[in-house]
Amino acid sequence: MTALIEASSPHVMNTYGRLPIALSHGQGCRVWDVNGKSYLDALAGIAVNTLGHNHPKLVPALQDQIGKIIHSCNYYHVPNQERLAAKLVELSGMTNVFFCSTGLEANEAALKLARKFGHDKGIERPQVVVYEKAFHGRSIATLSATGNPKVQAGFGPLVEGFIRVPLNDIEALKAATANNPNVVAVFFETIQGEGGINPMRAQYLQHVRALCDERDWLLMIDEVQCGMGRTGKWFAHQWAGIVPDVMPLAKGLGSGVPVGAVVAGPRAASIFQPGNHGTTFGGNPLAMRAGVETIRIMEEDGLVAQAERVGQHLRDTLTRELAGVAGVKEIRGQGLMIGVELARPCGVLTQRCADAGLLISVTADSVIRLVPALIMTEAEASEVAALLCPIIKTFLAENA
Ligand SMILES: Cc1ncc(COP(=O)(O)O)c(C=O)c1O
Repeated sequence: MTALIEASSPHVMNTYGRLPIALSHGQGCRVWDVNGKSYLDALAGIAVNTLGHNHPKLVPALQDQIGKIIHSCNYYHVPNQERLAAKLVELSGMTNVFFCSTGLEANEAALKLARKFGHDKGIERPQVVVYEKAFHGRSIATLSATGNPKVQAGFGPLVEGFIRVPLNDIEALKAATANNPNVVAVFFETIQGEGGINPMRAQYLQHVRALCDERDWLLMIDEVQCGMGRTGKWFAHQWAGIVPDVMPLAKGLGSGVPVGAVVAGPRAASIFQPGNHGTTFGGNPLAMRAGVETIRIMEEDGLVAQAERVGQHLRDTLTRELAGVAGVKEIRGQGLMIGVELARPCGVLTQRCADAGLLISVTADSVIRLVPALIMTEAEASEVAALLCPIIKTFLAENA
Protein backbone atom coordinates (compact mmCIF):
# COMPACT_ATOMS: atom_id res chain seq x y z
CA MET A 1 0.00 0.00 0.00
CA THR A 2 1.25 3.48 -0.81
CA ALA A 3 1.80 5.70 2.21
CA LEU A 4 0.34 9.15 1.68
CA ILE A 5 2.61 11.92 2.89
CA GLU A 6 0.54 14.76 4.31
CA ALA A 7 1.25 18.21 2.88
CA SER A 8 1.69 19.54 6.40
CA SER A 9 2.18 17.95 9.77
CA PRO A 10 -0.19 18.84 12.60
CA HIS A 11 2.48 18.90 15.29
CA VAL A 12 5.76 19.83 13.63
CA MET A 13 6.16 23.61 13.30
CA ASN A 14 5.36 24.79 9.85
CA THR A 15 8.76 26.21 8.88
CA TYR A 16 9.48 24.42 5.60
CA GLY A 17 7.78 24.14 2.24
CA ARG A 18 8.33 20.40 2.04
CA LEU A 19 7.86 18.05 -0.89
CA PRO A 20 5.42 15.19 -0.20
CA ILE A 21 8.27 12.69 0.10
CA ALA A 22 9.66 10.84 3.12
CA LEU A 23 12.98 9.09 2.63
CA SER A 24 13.50 5.78 4.36
CA HIS A 25 17.01 4.69 3.45
CA GLY A 26 19.90 5.18 1.07
CA GLN A 27 22.91 3.52 -0.46
CA GLY A 28 25.72 5.57 -1.94
CA CYS A 29 24.17 8.34 -4.06
CA ARG A 30 20.75 6.70 -4.14
CA VAL A 31 17.88 7.02 -1.71
CA TRP A 32 14.51 5.33 -1.44
CA ASP A 33 11.28 6.79 -0.10
CA VAL A 34 8.83 5.02 2.17
CA ASN A 35 6.91 3.84 -0.89
CA GLY A 36 9.96 2.21 -2.43
CA LYS A 37 10.54 4.84 -5.15
CA SER A 38 14.25 5.43 -5.76
CA TYR A 39 16.00 8.74 -6.41
CA LEU A 40 19.47 9.75 -7.52
CA ASP A 41 20.59 12.16 -4.82
CA ALA A 42 22.20 15.32 -6.21
CA LEU A 43 21.44 17.30 -3.07
CA ALA A 44 23.07 15.16 -0.32
CA GLY A 45 20.93 16.67 2.43
CA ILE A 46 22.02 20.17 1.24
CA ALA A 47 25.75 19.51 0.90
CA VAL A 48 25.92 17.44 4.08
CA ASN A 49 26.23 13.75 3.20
CA THR A 50 29.87 13.91 2.06
CA LEU A 51 30.12 10.10 1.98
CA GLY A 52 26.63 9.51 0.61
CA HIS A 53 24.39 7.08 2.42
CA ASN A 54 25.21 3.92 4.35
CA HIS A 55 28.93 4.22 3.64
CA PRO A 56 30.65 0.87 4.30
CA LYS A 57 33.54 2.46 6.21
CA LEU A 58 31.62 5.17 8.08
CA VAL A 59 28.71 3.13 9.40
CA PRO A 60 30.75 0.55 11.38
CA ALA A 61 32.90 3.32 12.84
CA LEU A 62 29.83 5.21 14.06
CA GLN A 63 28.27 2.00 15.38
CA ASP A 64 31.47 1.32 17.29
CA GLN A 65 31.38 4.84 18.75
CA ILE A 66 27.71 4.66 19.73
CA GLY A 67 28.48 1.44 21.59
CA LYS A 68 31.23 3.19 23.55
CA ILE A 69 30.07 6.72 24.34
CA ILE A 70 27.82 9.15 22.47
CA HIS A 71 28.10 12.22 24.65
CA SER A 72 30.22 13.21 27.60
CA CYS A 73 30.53 17.00 27.88
CA ASN A 74 33.16 19.69 27.74
CA TYR A 75 33.93 19.43 31.45
CA TYR A 76 36.17 16.55 30.34
CA HIS A 77 38.64 16.00 27.54
CA VAL A 78 37.33 14.35 24.39
CA PRO A 79 40.38 12.76 22.70
CA ASN A 80 38.88 12.89 19.21
CA GLN A 81 38.46 16.67 19.54
CA GLU A 82 42.23 16.97 19.50
CA ARG A 83 42.50 14.46 16.64
CA LEU A 84 39.94 16.28 14.50
CA ALA A 85 41.33 19.71 15.40
CA ALA A 86 44.86 18.61 14.46
CA LYS A 87 43.59 17.36 11.12
CA LEU A 88 41.68 20.58 10.37
CA VAL A 89 44.76 22.60 11.34
CA GLU A 90 46.92 20.50 9.02
CA LEU A 91 44.49 20.83 6.10
CA SER A 92 43.83 24.55 6.54
CA GLY A 93 47.22 25.91 7.58
CA MET A 94 45.49 27.53 10.56
CA THR A 95 46.13 26.84 14.24
CA ASN A 96 43.16 26.15 16.58
CA VAL A 97 39.57 24.91 16.48
CA PHE A 98 36.39 25.40 18.51
CA PHE A 99 33.72 22.74 17.98
CA CYS A 100 29.96 23.28 17.87
CA SER A 101 27.12 21.50 16.10
CA THR A 102 25.79 23.62 13.22
CA GLY A 103 26.74 26.22 10.67
CA LEU A 104 24.99 29.09 12.36
CA GLU A 105 26.72 28.29 15.63
CA ALA A 106 30.08 28.30 13.87
CA ASN A 107 29.20 31.69 12.39
CA GLU A 108 27.98 33.03 15.75
CA ALA A 109 31.33 32.05 17.21
CA ALA A 110 33.10 33.83 14.34
CA LEU A 111 31.07 36.99 14.95
CA LYS A 112 31.81 36.82 18.67
CA LEU A 113 35.52 36.44 17.86
CA ALA A 114 35.33 39.54 15.64
CA ARG A 115 33.61 41.57 18.33
CA LYS A 116 36.04 40.55 21.05
CA PHE A 117 38.97 41.15 18.70
CA GLY A 118 37.63 44.71 18.42
CA HIS A 119 36.96 45.16 22.13
CA ASP A 120 40.45 43.87 22.96
CA LYS A 121 41.75 46.69 20.73
CA GLY A 122 39.54 49.27 22.49
CA ILE A 123 36.84 49.41 19.79
CA GLU A 124 33.52 49.70 21.63
CA ARG A 125 31.16 49.30 18.68
CA PRO A 126 32.90 46.88 16.32
CA GLN A 127 31.60 46.51 12.76
CA VAL A 128 31.87 43.58 10.38
CA VAL A 129 31.72 43.85 6.59
CA VAL A 130 29.19 41.41 5.09
CA TYR A 131 27.91 40.83 1.56
CA GLU A 132 24.84 41.17 -0.59
CA LYS A 133 23.05 37.81 -1.11
CA ALA A 134 25.08 36.21 1.71
CA PHE A 135 23.60 33.45 3.88
CA HIS A 136 25.09 32.77 7.28
CA GLY A 137 22.23 31.19 9.25
CA ARG A 138 18.99 31.85 11.07
CA SER A 139 19.98 33.01 14.54
CA ILE A 140 19.41 36.70 15.21
CA ALA A 141 23.05 37.64 14.63
CA THR A 142 23.63 35.39 11.63
CA LEU A 143 20.37 36.42 9.96
CA SER A 144 21.45 40.02 10.48
CA ALA A 145 24.67 39.19 8.65
CA THR A 146 22.68 37.43 5.91
CA GLY A 147 21.99 39.53 2.82
CA ASN A 148 18.48 38.33 2.09
CA PRO A 149 15.54 40.50 3.17
CA LYS A 150 13.20 37.47 3.06
CA VAL A 151 15.24 35.73 5.77
CA GLN A 152 15.20 38.87 7.92
CA ALA A 153 11.54 39.87 7.47
CA GLY A 154 9.62 39.80 10.74
CA PHE A 155 12.66 39.45 13.00
CA GLY A 156 13.74 43.04 13.56
CA PRO A 157 15.35 44.78 15.21
CA LEU A 158 18.37 43.23 13.57
CA VAL A 159 21.74 43.09 15.28
CA GLU A 160 23.78 46.23 14.65
CA GLY A 161 27.36 46.37 13.50
CA PHE A 162 27.22 45.16 9.91
CA ILE A 163 28.30 47.03 6.78
CA ARG A 164 27.03 45.48 3.54
CA VAL A 165 28.91 45.52 0.26
CA PRO A 166 28.53 43.92 -3.20
CA LEU A 167 30.54 40.85 -4.24
CA ASN A 168 33.84 41.03 -6.07
CA ASP A 169 34.15 44.83 -5.92
CA ILE A 170 37.26 45.88 -4.03
CA GLU A 171 36.64 49.59 -4.61
CA ALA A 172 33.16 49.27 -3.09
CA LEU A 173 34.70 47.57 -0.05
CA LYS A 174 37.27 50.34 0.33
CA ALA A 175 34.63 53.05 -0.09
CA ALA A 176 32.23 51.46 2.43
CA THR A 177 34.94 51.25 5.07
CA ALA A 178 36.80 54.50 4.35
CA ASN A 179 37.84 56.40 7.49
CA ASN A 180 35.91 53.95 9.68
CA PRO A 181 38.03 52.93 12.68
CA ASN A 182 35.32 50.54 13.94
CA VAL A 183 35.73 47.91 11.22
CA VAL A 184 37.16 44.69 12.69
CA ALA A 185 36.47 41.96 10.12
CA VAL A 186 35.36 41.03 6.62
CA PHE A 187 33.02 38.03 6.49
CA PHE A 188 31.86 36.10 3.40
CA GLU A 189 31.34 32.72 1.74
CA THR A 190 33.97 31.85 -0.89
CA ILE A 191 31.10 30.57 -3.02
CA GLN A 192 27.70 31.77 -1.84
CA GLY A 193 25.42 28.76 -1.54
CA GLU A 194 21.90 29.87 -0.65
CA GLY A 195 22.49 33.13 -2.52
CA GLY A 196 22.66 31.25 -5.82
CA ILE A 197 26.15 29.66 -6.23
CA ASN A 198 27.97 32.98 -6.57
CA PRO A 199 31.76 32.63 -6.45
CA MET A 200 34.15 35.25 -5.13
CA ARG A 201 36.91 35.74 -7.70
CA ALA A 202 40.42 34.59 -6.73
CA GLN A 203 41.89 38.02 -7.34
CA TYR A 204 39.24 39.63 -5.15
CA LEU A 205 40.04 37.17 -2.34
CA GLN A 206 43.72 38.07 -2.62
CA HIS A 207 42.91 41.79 -2.51
CA VAL A 208 40.70 41.37 0.55
CA ARG A 209 43.41 39.33 2.27
CA ALA A 210 45.92 42.13 1.63
CA LEU A 211 43.45 44.79 2.82
CA CYS A 212 42.75 42.85 6.04
CA ASP A 213 46.50 42.60 6.71
CA GLU A 214 47.01 46.29 6.00
CA ARG A 215 44.15 47.43 8.24
CA ASP A 216 44.39 44.78 10.96
CA TRP A 217 40.96 43.27 10.21
CA LEU A 218 40.09 39.60 10.57
CA LEU A 219 39.40 37.79 7.31
CA MET A 220 36.54 35.42 8.19
CA ILE A 221 35.49 32.96 5.48
CA ASP A 222 32.28 30.98 5.89
CA GLU A 223 33.07 27.59 4.34
CA VAL A 224 30.01 25.92 5.84
CA GLN A 225 28.65 24.96 2.44
CA CYS A 226 31.58 25.24 0.02
CA GLY A 227 34.23 23.71 2.32
CA MET A 228 35.23 20.14 3.16
CA GLY A 229 36.48 19.11 -0.25
CA ARG A 230 33.38 19.98 -2.24
CA THR A 231 35.12 22.31 -4.72
CA GLY A 232 38.15 20.09 -5.28
CA LYS A 233 40.27 21.71 -2.57
CA TRP A 234 39.74 21.05 1.11
CA PHE A 235 38.51 24.64 1.45
CA ALA A 236 37.29 26.71 -1.49
CA HIS A 237 39.39 29.79 -0.64
CA GLN A 238 42.51 27.64 -1.18
CA TRP A 239 41.96 28.06 -4.93
CA ALA A 240 43.09 31.67 -4.36
CA GLY A 241 46.16 30.64 -2.34
CA ILE A 242 45.09 32.62 0.72
CA VAL A 243 44.57 31.64 4.37
CA PRO A 244 41.79 33.26 6.41
CA ASP A 245 41.98 34.23 10.08
CA VAL A 246 38.67 32.59 10.94
CA MET A 247 36.85 29.80 9.07
CA PRO A 248 33.45 28.44 10.14
CA LEU A 249 32.69 24.89 8.96
CA ALA A 250 29.74 22.52 9.35
CA LYS A 251 27.55 20.59 6.87
CA GLY A 252 29.91 18.06 5.21
CA LEU A 253 32.27 17.82 8.17
CA GLY A 254 30.34 15.02 9.87
CA SER A 255 28.76 13.31 6.83
CA GLY A 256 25.30 13.81 8.37
CA VAL A 257 26.15 13.78 12.06
CA PRO A 258 25.78 17.41 13.21
CA VAL A 259 29.27 18.89 13.56
CA GLY A 260 30.30 22.52 13.34
CA ALA A 261 33.72 24.06 13.83
CA VAL A 262 35.40 27.43 13.86
CA VAL A 263 38.98 27.19 12.71
CA ALA A 264 41.19 30.11 13.70
CA GLY A 265 44.61 31.29 12.60
CA PRO A 266 47.24 32.93 14.84
CA ARG A 267 45.50 36.32 14.95
CA ALA A 268 42.21 34.86 16.19
CA ALA A 269 43.19 31.68 18.02
CA SER A 270 43.69 33.21 21.46
CA ILE A 271 40.81 35.70 21.50
CA PHE A 272 38.48 33.36 23.40
CA GLN A 273 39.57 32.56 26.92
CA PRO A 274 37.88 30.14 29.38
CA GLY A 275 34.34 31.34 29.99
CA ASN A 276 34.01 33.34 26.76
CA HIS A 277 32.22 30.71 24.74
CA GLY A 278 30.77 27.23 25.00
CA THR A 279 28.10 24.73 24.01
CA THR A 280 26.70 21.51 25.45
CA PHE A 281 26.75 19.34 22.35
CA GLY A 282 29.75 20.80 20.53
CA GLY A 283 32.67 18.43 20.16
CA ASN A 284 30.86 15.44 21.63
CA PRO A 285 32.39 11.99 21.11
CA LEU A 286 29.94 10.87 18.41
CA ALA A 287 30.30 14.11 16.44
CA MET A 288 34.09 14.04 16.71
CA ARG A 289 34.29 10.42 15.59
CA ALA A 290 32.12 11.33 12.59
CA GLY A 291 34.49 14.18 11.72
CA VAL A 292 37.65 12.13 12.17
CA GLU A 293 36.30 9.22 10.10
CA THR A 294 34.88 11.49 7.38
CA ILE A 295 38.28 13.06 6.76
CA ARG A 296 40.08 9.72 7.06
CA ILE A 297 37.81 8.15 4.44
CA MET A 298 38.01 11.21 2.19
CA GLU A 299 41.80 10.96 2.26
CA GLU A 300 41.90 7.17 1.80
CA ASP A 301 39.51 7.29 -1.14
CA GLY A 302 40.86 10.46 -2.79
CA LEU A 303 37.48 12.17 -2.62
CA VAL A 304 38.71 15.77 -2.90
CA ALA A 305 40.30 15.05 -6.28
CA GLN A 306 37.21 13.03 -7.24
CA ALA A 307 34.95 15.99 -6.42
CA GLU A 308 36.95 18.16 -8.80
CA ARG A 309 37.01 15.57 -11.59
CA VAL A 310 33.37 14.51 -11.35
CA GLY A 311 32.25 18.11 -10.85
CA GLN A 312 34.09 19.16 -13.99
CA HIS A 313 32.49 16.30 -15.88
CA LEU A 314 29.03 17.28 -14.63
CA ARG A 315 29.53 20.95 -15.53
CA ASP A 316 30.89 20.04 -18.96
CA THR A 317 27.97 17.70 -19.61
CA LEU A 318 25.39 20.27 -18.52
CA THR A 319 27.11 22.96 -20.59
CA ARG A 320 27.07 20.73 -23.65
CA GLU A 321 23.49 19.53 -23.20
CA LEU A 322 22.08 22.97 -22.45
CA ALA A 323 24.11 24.91 -25.06
CA GLY A 324 21.89 27.31 -26.95
CA VAL A 325 18.80 26.59 -24.84
CA ALA A 326 16.96 29.89 -24.47
CA GLY A 327 16.39 30.71 -20.81
CA VAL A 328 19.55 29.08 -19.45
CA LYS A 329 21.48 32.09 -18.17
CA GLU A 330 24.61 30.55 -16.71
CA ILE A 331 26.13 27.30 -15.47
CA ARG A 332 28.67 28.04 -12.74
CA GLY A 333 30.40 26.71 -9.66
CA GLN A 334 33.40 24.62 -8.85
CA GLY A 335 33.80 20.91 -8.22
CA LEU A 336 30.57 19.43 -6.89
CA MET A 337 28.97 22.79 -6.09
CA ILE A 338 27.13 23.67 -9.26
CA GLY A 339 24.43 26.21 -10.07
CA VAL A 340 22.34 26.36 -13.25
CA GLU A 341 20.73 29.77 -13.39
CA LEU A 342 17.56 30.06 -15.44
CA ALA A 343 15.99 33.26 -16.69
CA ARG A 344 12.90 32.79 -14.54
CA PRO A 345 11.88 31.37 -11.15
CA CYS A 346 11.97 27.60 -11.27
CA GLY A 347 11.06 26.33 -7.79
CA VAL A 348 8.60 23.86 -9.37
CA LEU A 349 11.57 21.90 -10.70
CA THR A 350 12.32 20.33 -7.31
CA GLN A 351 9.03 18.38 -7.55
CA ARG A 352 9.38 17.65 -11.25
CA CYS A 353 12.89 16.31 -10.76
CA ALA A 354 11.76 14.23 -7.79
CA ASP A 355 8.95 12.79 -9.92
CA ALA A 356 11.65 11.80 -12.41
CA GLY A 357 13.77 10.23 -9.64
CA LEU A 358 16.28 13.03 -9.03
CA LEU A 359 16.80 15.11 -5.89
CA ILE A 360 17.98 18.69 -6.41
CA SER A 361 17.19 22.07 -4.91
CA VAL A 362 16.39 25.49 -6.28
CA THR A 363 17.89 28.45 -4.50
CA ALA A 364 17.66 32.22 -5.00
CA ASP A 365 14.39 31.53 -6.91
CA SER A 366 15.97 30.67 -10.24
CA VAL A 367 19.18 28.71 -9.60
CA ILE A 368 19.15 24.91 -9.74
CA ARG A 369 21.67 23.77 -7.15
CA LEU A 370 23.59 20.49 -7.41
CA VAL A 371 25.65 19.57 -4.35
CA PRO A 372 25.86 15.75 -4.39
CA ALA A 373 27.94 13.49 -2.18
CA LEU A 374 31.67 13.55 -2.91
CA ILE A 375 31.52 9.83 -3.68
CA MET A 376 29.48 10.51 -6.82
CA THR A 377 30.94 8.78 -9.89
CA GLU A 378 31.18 10.14 -13.42
CA ALA A 379 28.52 7.65 -14.50
CA GLU A 380 26.16 8.93 -11.80
CA ALA A 381 26.94 12.53 -12.76
CA SER A 382 26.06 11.69 -16.36
CA GLU A 383 22.80 10.25 -15.09
CA VAL A 384 22.08 13.47 -13.16
CA ALA A 385 22.54 15.46 -16.36
CA ALA A 386 20.48 12.99 -18.39
CA LEU A 387 17.58 13.31 -15.94
CA LEU A 388 17.86 17.06 -15.38
CA CYS A 389 18.43 18.52 -18.86
CA PRO A 390 15.17 17.35 -20.48
CA ILE A 391 13.23 18.67 -17.46
CA ILE A 392 14.92 22.07 -17.82
CA LYS A 393 14.25 22.16 -21.55
CA THR A 394 10.58 21.25 -21.14
CA PHE A 395 10.17 23.83 -18.38
CA LEU A 396 11.77 26.59 -20.43
CA ALA A 397 9.75 25.69 -23.51
CA GLU A 398 6.52 26.22 -21.54
CA ASN A 399 5.23 29.80 -21.90
CA ALA A 400 8.40 30.59 -23.87
C1 LIG B 1 27.27 29.29 3.95
C2 LIG B 1 26.36 28.89 5.06
N1 LIG B 1 26.60 29.34 6.30
C3 LIG B 1 25.82 28.98 7.33
C4 LIG B 1 24.73 28.15 7.16
C5 LIG B 1 23.89 27.78 8.33
O1 LIG B 1 24.16 26.48 8.68
P1 LIG B 1 23.14 25.67 9.62
O2 LIG B 1 21.89 25.49 8.80
O3 LIG B 1 23.84 24.39 9.91
O4 LIG B 1 22.90 26.50 10.82
C6 LIG B 1 24.45 27.66 5.88
C7 LIG B 1 23.29 26.79 5.66
O5 LIG B 1 22.81 26.62 4.59
C8 LIG B 1 25.29 28.03 4.81
O6 LIG B 1 25.06 27.59 3.58
